Amino acid sequence: MDRIRIVGGNRLNGTIPISGAKNATLPLMIASLLTAETLILENVPRLADVIQLQRILGNHGVDIMIEGKRPGDEPASGRTLHISAKNIVDTTAPYELVSTMRASFWVIAPLLARMGEAKVSMPGGCAIGTRPVDLLIMALEKLGAEIEIEGGYIIARAPNGLRGGEIIFPKVTVSGTHVALMAAVLAKGTTVIDNAAREPEIGDVADCLNKMGAKVTGIGTSQLVIEGVAKLNGTRHAVLPDRIETGTYAMAVAMTGGDVLLQNTRADLLQSALDVLVKTGTTVTPTNDGIRISRNGAALMPVDVTTAPYPEFPTDLQAQLMALMSLANGTSHITETIFENRFMHVQELARLGARIGLDGETATIEGVKRLRGAPVMATDLRASVSLVIAALAAEGETMVNRVYHLDRGFEKLEEKLSRCGAVIERISS
Ligand code: UD1
Repeated sequence: MDRIRIVGGNRLNGTIPISGAKNATLPLMIASLLTAETLILENVPRLADVIQLQRILGNHGVDIMIEGKRPGDEPASGRTLHISAKNIVDTTAPYELVSTMRASFWVIAPLLARMGEAKVSMPGGCAIGTRPVDLLIMALEKLGAEIEIEGGYIIARAPNGLRGGEIIFPKVTVSGTHVALMAAVLAKGTTVIDNAAREPEIGDVADCLNKMGAKVTGIGTSQLVIEGVAKLNGTRHAVLPDRIETGTYAMAVAMTGGDVLLQNTRADLLQSALDVLVKTGTTVTPTNDGIRISRNGAALMPVDVTTAPYPEFPTDLQAQLMALMSLANGTSHITETIFENRFMHVQELARLGARIGLDGETATIEGVKRLRGAPVMATDLRASVSLVIAALAAEGETMVNRVYHLDRGFEKLEEKLSRCGAVIERISS
């Protein structure tokens, strides 16, 4: 299993190109199942999750052609995928495939909407608390689906097609909103989704669906209204920038000090996180093609932050902020309200010398003067990267074990950081 070796202490200086968002790419690829025509996606990041989803879609009969590089293309620019779900040969998503990536469960919506049936294994994915699918099932039922659970599989049927309905989510759910949206675009009549998630990745998918001929309004608000259409067409769509990758590198620079331009990204995608960084004493300057992050030797100020659905502070940056606050000049509090049990990074950060106490959903972080390198274990995607950024600021060598989590969500991590002066290498085994 690959490991990453980091020798901390260097400031980061230079430019980091930000990739297309993983959390938009996955549902966009899944949305290709809604049409017999080709969906062309640009700015697709090279990630293990994307490759895994290619396999899963391939199992349904989807053809994916990856455009080659042209001379003069930026080395870091994303790939272009031509995805054709002309012939869906199988409406079952088996356990062996779905259990490796939770988001692949979402194929249930387009398969059901277009084919009238789907049989999808209950999901797996990151080990961050129980992540149920009850609200996804509720949404499909509101659109007229008949649901059965059998042998670990959810079987959804709508022999006469789905029909529009009113879906009121009792809590904000990204997965629920994606599934409801993808099912509703081909349903007969009007669907209203209330308390919809407002994450930019939902908006990106809704924009793409509209280009495919869907009729979605209310994008960016908590009420989506969808007029069902009989069929969708192909289109070309560029995936929006990854706000979590952006925020992660911003925190890395805040932690090590230095001056880095995060390129091909947008401040409005992560304003709440940038506001927190400003409070820590980091300088954040939006530019024409990205965001410049810099911090000189000034002390990091502690902050109190609570994670919440967009536009509030994202749970996917919680672990990284905790790493940063472990070097603050004072005590910070971070409360996690989205996922229970999303604190597995705490004991690993402690191995580097961080002082963190846990009380229910709140972590109290007492800033220390320095962290020291140590062997650590990556536990989930965002936790893993929090260890990487802590290691960049720690004295001496850190070995991050089990880095396959990182490969699921961070494109060319070592390359992007080492080009800015970090000592970081992958040790393959
Ligand atoms: C997505 C993101 C993930 C991010 C999370 C929250 C992708 C691929 N993943 O995950 O990176 O951390 O949003 O921003 O986009 N819930 C239920 N019942 C359900 C569904 C969800 O109770 O049927 C709960 C979950 O347990 C959790 C909360 O709702 O406590 C939010 O989950 P959700 O927004 O659906 O997260 P994901 O879509 O799984």
